[in-house]
Amino acid sequence: MNTAKTIAEIRRLVADARSGGVVCVGLVPTMGALHKGHYSLIDAACGECDFVAVSIFVNPTQFGPNEDYRRYPRPIDDDVAGCVSHGVDAVFAPRAEEMYPDGFATTVSVAGPTGPMEGRCRPGHFDGVCTVVAKLFNIVAPDVACFGAKDYQQVTVIKRMAADLDMPLRIKVCPTVREADGLAMSSRNVCLGDEERAQAAALYESLRLSERLIREGLSRAEEVIETARRHLAEKAPLGKADYIEIVDPDSLETVDTIEKDVVIALAVKFPSARLIDNIRVDMTEQRE
Ligand code: PAJ
Repeated sequence: MNTAKTIAEIRRLVADARSGGVVCVGLVPTMGALHKGHYSLIDAACGECDFVAVSIFVNPTQFGPNEDYRRYPRPIDDDVAGCVSHGVDAVFAPRAEEMYPDGFATTVSVAGPTGPMEGRCRPGHFDGVCTVVAKLFNIVAPDVACFGAKDYQQVTVIKRMAADLDMPLRIKVCPTVREADGLAMSSRNVCLGDEERAQAAALYESLRLSERLIREGLSRAEEVIETARRHLAEKAPLGKADYIEIVDPDSLETVDTIEKDVVIALAVKFPSARLIDNIRVDMTEQRE
């Protein structure tokens, strides 16, 4: 496996692969500290593509001024070894100056689905995500790019960007991989202290509790959210809920009365890390 640090190098690796007969190039964009969630995307890409590139880049432009950019874990040697063992063809691990040289002046900004949830709590976050992802798409020119449902709003926004800007690739969404107690795997989980980690299971519990209430017939989103909020307050007192929202799966607009499929999404700030999670409640399943 090759590791490219420059844009020219990764472009060369992809070009060589294509001229050697590769027809489907897959890209898995990551910020590293790879875990089973990332590896599930990599395995999905390897299953569909004959050349898979993984980008590992802690993207400074998607972090707010008081966020954890500097503290974000960067175990690059372990990540590269993991990529080798999962059959990745090339890792692209650029330095920040390679991606954002002096004079860099362009931002890709998506409206619509960036509005609620993370967009409200982290101003500018999706501009950073979309700008770096657009660059990665232009650099690697993949046929397929894999993203996790764990960051539901992120993949919704990226799909919007790719459609609006006529980017010639397919976005594949892979299911959320969880720990045994339901906590969604995240590079930030290692930052949690023991007590925080134990309480973090309450995120998924409150999502499942909300789902159950909806399936039992509760249709007022407000009431569902209130129950989830109480569960979190009781089971995760170290955390503070940034938001719990029930939204339309496509537009991400807030839903007041639940009549069809919805996504329930939440963010909880613990002292050591801010965690997000979501589930989709498929109402057609209920009628079967
Ligand atoms: P990162 O948080 O490293 O996540 C990279 C990809 O892995 C994302 O598509 C994310 O949704 C997916 N992922 C993370 N945890 C997962 C889990 N438990 N199960 C399934 N998939 C999971 O998301 C980013 O990086 C960045 O914003 C990026 C898109 C790379 C742009 O900088």
